[in-house]
Amino acid sequence: MSEHLTHLTLADQFFRDQGSAGGSGELSTILNRVTLAARMIANTVLRAGLHGNLGKTGGVNVQGEEVKELDVISNEIFEEVFDRTPVVAAIASEEKDDVHYYSEDVQRGKYVLLHDPLDGSGNVDINGSMGTIFSIYRRKDVERPASLADFLRQGHEQVAAGYMLYGPATLFVYSVGGTVNGFTLDRSVGAFFLTHPNIRIPEGKGSYAVNEANEGKWDDKTRAMVRAFREGTTDCGKRSARYVGALVADFHRTLVQGGVYMYPGEVQKPNGKLRLLYEAKPLAFIARQAGGHASTGRMPILDVQAEELHQRTPLYIGSTGDVEEIERRLRG
Ligand code: F6P
Ligand code: MN
Repeated sequence: MSEHLTHLTLADQFFRDQGSAGGSGELSTILNRVTLAARMIANTVLRAGLHGNLGKTGGVNVQGEEVKELDVISNEIFEEVFDRTPVVAAIASEEKDDVHYYSEDVQRGKYVLLHDPLDGSGNVDINGSMGTIFSIYRRKDVERPASLADFLRQGHEQVAAGYMLYGPATLFVYSVGGTVNGFTLDRSVGAFFLTHPNIRIPEGKGSYAVNEANEGKWDDKTRAMVRAFREGTTDCGKRSARYVGALVADFHRTLVQGGVYMYPGEVQKPNGKLRLLYEAKPLAFIARQAGGHASTGRMPILDVQAEELHQRTPLYIGSTGDVEEIERRLRG
């Protein structure tokens, strides 16, 4: 292999090539800005221990300065990066109660963006993997100022979605429909290179991921269904158990190796924990484009009409065979 990386495809080149068929280039601009936010967050996460930003409490560091939580910093990075990206009219974050509108200017932009800036931030203290999830919609009526209605959409309407995984390497995985492609950050040159072209989710193998400590909170059907995965009595075949506890990391493993990730609803909390717009829909879009499936247990995630910004949903996502068997068992 050449010591130079010129034989590899740069992410921004790839965005341009993918969007070149009559596109205005605005979507590739947004994707480029997302990868900038990704590099900035990756750098922050990498150096968090050195700067005293570990921990969830937001205390005081050894220099006596107030320490911001990493998810707050990651959120600010996104807001600032898109403050300078006029094609995005407004942004919504899992970290914020309300939409952040950049300007009253109706010409401001055709797109809105949603993000979960630091998914799995509970892993901060153990140097575990974390991620960022993003989702992009084209505004329905660009003659009017952006509004909440631009965000409360069906998953099918996403024009792009993806995630960054901050693990031993930083990965950027996204789709604008058609294919799912993954890039790896080369820190020495600060650029993402195509390393996972056309990802397809395998069928009939892989792992199941679920927080089984919640078993006592599930209804009987959910309990019996998860037990079938544990005991290897599913029709889709035997699966290993894996659980990182960071959705992006658990989903990425499922996408590459197959199987299913689940966060079921509970008797007391029927919609479970995960957020429809910031977590379930973008990952459902990726799963679908990679040949997989995502479900609430009753209906495809992509068909759910969002009613509020921070709505939660049960999530079953992964290989189509595994998710369809779960739907059958929960129905039956
Ligand atoms: O964002 C929610 C989240 O942190 C996900 O990343 C993760 O999969 C999940 O919560 C873990 O939840 P629990 O600790 O309940 O298993
Ligand atoms: Mn999250």
